[in-house]
Amino acid sequence: MKEIIALEYKQGILHMIDQRKLPRQQETFLCKTWQEVDFAIQDMVVRGAPAIGAAAAYGALLAAKEYEKEPKPVFLSKMEESLSVLNESRPTAVNLMWAIKRMRNLLKQYAQESITQLVERIEAEADAIVAADQAINVTMGDYGNSIIPEKATILTHCNTGALATVGIGTALGVVRQAFRSGKDIFVYADETRPRLQGGRLTAWELMQEGIPASLIADSVAATLIRDGKIDVILVGADRIATNGDTANKIGTFMLSVLAKTYQVPFYIVAPTTTIDFDMSHGDEIVIEERSSEEVTHIDGHPTAPEGIQVYNPAFDVTPHQNITGIITEKGIIRAPFHENIPPLKGEE
Ligand code: MRU
Repeated sequence: MKEIIALEYKQGILHMIDQRKLPRQQETFLCKTWQEVDFAIQDMVVRGAPAIGAAAAYGALLAAKEYEKEPKPVFLSKMEESLSVLNESRPTAVNLMWAIKRMRNLLKQYAQESITQLVERIEAEADAIVAADQAINVTMGDYGNSIIPEKATILTHCNTGALATVGIGTALGVVRQAFRSGKDIFVYADETRPRLQGGRLTAWELMQEGIPASLIADSVAATLIRDGKIDVILVGADRIATNGDTANKIGTFMLSVLAKTYQVPFYIVAPTTTIDFDMSHGDEIVIEERSSEEVTHIDGHPTAPEGIQVYNPAFDVTPHQNITGIITEKGIIRAPFHENIPPLKGEE
């Protein structure tokens, strides 16, 4: 089986699988400038918290290459300008801000060095972010596999696989490790309206790997959970507050309420780079609202009357009380989250 590589930097160009086109077309979107990376993140050519963090890191590299012939003060101010724009390409996933912060810190720490040296450092930093994410995904997958029963039926939401990261995935990484370790698992994938990351992307990844699965409309989940058909729910995260409140794809909160009502284990799978150590409560998380067309149209075809008002938040916040555990590369974190999450800082 060919590994899925969401993004790869090769000879001055960032190659991305164009996730807007999957599963019907497998096209590569090429970013030669940082502005193209900014567009790709906003338009969701690339999406998923860890993947957009990595994309932004290479956006910083493309900016550095664009301005490397400028005098140093101009280079530094152009870098700050581009990092600020990239930082705002999407608001909820903290991995994006985390990657940009790493670049800012690097430019500050090595401010005395030549531009050539700085560009080399930025490239090494972006490569390190990718290498770390790949390793972290496998570690999380293995920790997660330890809570998956031998014949588990797993419910998942959105896409948290190779497309959403630069490795095997977060929640879907756990699914992969369980399957690769020989467990007889079955997956229900929510289609995840309105962007259909489950239907377009997770279903595609599951089929590529041959993992037994059914795609379901989002509204089917409640019946499956009530009827005792789900052993464990695994989802990803875009930002986790230090009390454990977790922002993830819209619909996650609803699943967590069902999980609590019917006592089904509900796990978040996320690297510690998705924890916002400056945020103590989920209420502080900025929730992205996306265009009304995502709800009124499918592939450019209208599915709602013209002119209808739309409310389209892309994420929701699951309260920590509904979460059984957070599977990270440092192990499985459990309640009390406000005590067990802060010590992870500094080990990031
Ligand atoms: O809007 P998206 O597709 O970027 O949202 C993605 C999610 O909500 C994922 O669950 C999250 O980023 C974790 S992916 C490893």
